Amino acid sequence: MVLANQIAIVTGAARGIGQAISMLLAEQGATVIAADMNAEGLTAAVGEAKAKGLAGKIVPKLLNVTDGAAIDAFIDEVMKEFGKIDILVNNAGITRDGLLMNMEDEQFDLVIDVNLRSVFRLTRAVSRYMVRARYGRIVNMASVSGMMGNPGQANYAASKAGVIGFTKTVAKELGKRGITANAVAPGFIDTPMTQVLPDKLKDGIKQFVPLQRFGTPADVAAAVAFLSSPASGYITGQVLPVDGGLNM
Ligand code: NAI
Repeated sequence: MVLANQIAIVTGAARGIGQAISMLLAEQGATVIAADMNAEGLTAAVGEAKAKGLAGKIVPKLLNVTDGAAIDAFIDEVMKEFGKIDILVNNAGITRDGLLMNMEDEQFDLVIDVNLRSVFRLTRAVSRYMVRARYGRIVNMASVSGMMGNPGQANYAASKAGVIGFTKTVAKELGKRGITANAVAPGFIDTPMTQVLPDKLKDGIKQFVPLQRFGTPADVAAAVAFLSSPASGYITGQVLPVDGGLNM
C-alpha cells in the first residue's frame, strides 16, 4: 500500500471533504489523526472506518484550529504517541458569506482565523519535525474562489488566496529538506457546506462547469491522496484545481 506506515494529520475530518480524505488515506495504509471540533462527527467517522475494516486507522482528536495553544499541544501529543508526522492536510474551513458593503469585521476575522491563520500555525508546528525527518507532504485546501474571486465571499476568497501564497512560500522554504507543499482548489463540491445553497443557484452554477455537475468529496480526496503520496515527490508549490473545469 502506498501509504503503509505513514502518519497523517487531517483537519476538518469529521465530515465532508475532510472525512473523505481521511478514509482514502487510511485505505491506502496511513494512520490518520482526524482532527476536528465536532466530536459527534468524529465518532461517526470512526464508526464508518470500522465498518470498512479500517478499525484503528482513524484516530479522532478534538481540536479547534483557531486555538494556537491547543494546536501546539496537539502536535506535541501526536509526536509523543506516533513519533513522526509524514503528511499534513490542512482542510478545516468555513464560509461566512455576505456582500462587502455589509461585511462585519468579526465575519472577516473569523474566516481568516479558521481558513488561513490555522494553516500557518499547524504548518509551522509540523514543519519543525518534517525538517528533521527530511521528508514531508503538506496539502492545503484552497478554493476556486481564491483564484477567481466570488461575489459575497470577500473574506473567504481572501483567506483562500492567502493559502495559495502561503503554500508557495512553504514550498520554496522547505523544498531543500525533501518536503513538498501543494494546494488543492476545489470548485463546487457536494458537502454540508454547499448543501445549504438554494437549488436555483446550484443549477445556475452547474451551467458554468464543463463537466456539468458538482464534484464529490471523493473527487477531491483522490487529488489530495496523490499529493500526499511519495509518487508526487517532484511536484511542489502547485495549485491543483478539482473543479470540473470551472476555472480554466
Ligand atoms: P464542511 O463544512 O462540510 O466541513 C468542514 C469541517 O471543518 C467540519 O467537520 C467542521 O467541524 C470543521 N471545522 C470548522 N471549523 C473548525 C475549527 N475551528 N476547528 C476544527 N475544525 C473545524 O466543509 P467541506 O465542504 O468539507 O470543506 C472542506 C474544505 O474544502 C474547506 O477548507 C473548504 O473551504 C474547502 N472547499 C470546499 C468547497 C465546497 O464546495 N464544498 C469548495 C472549495 C473549497
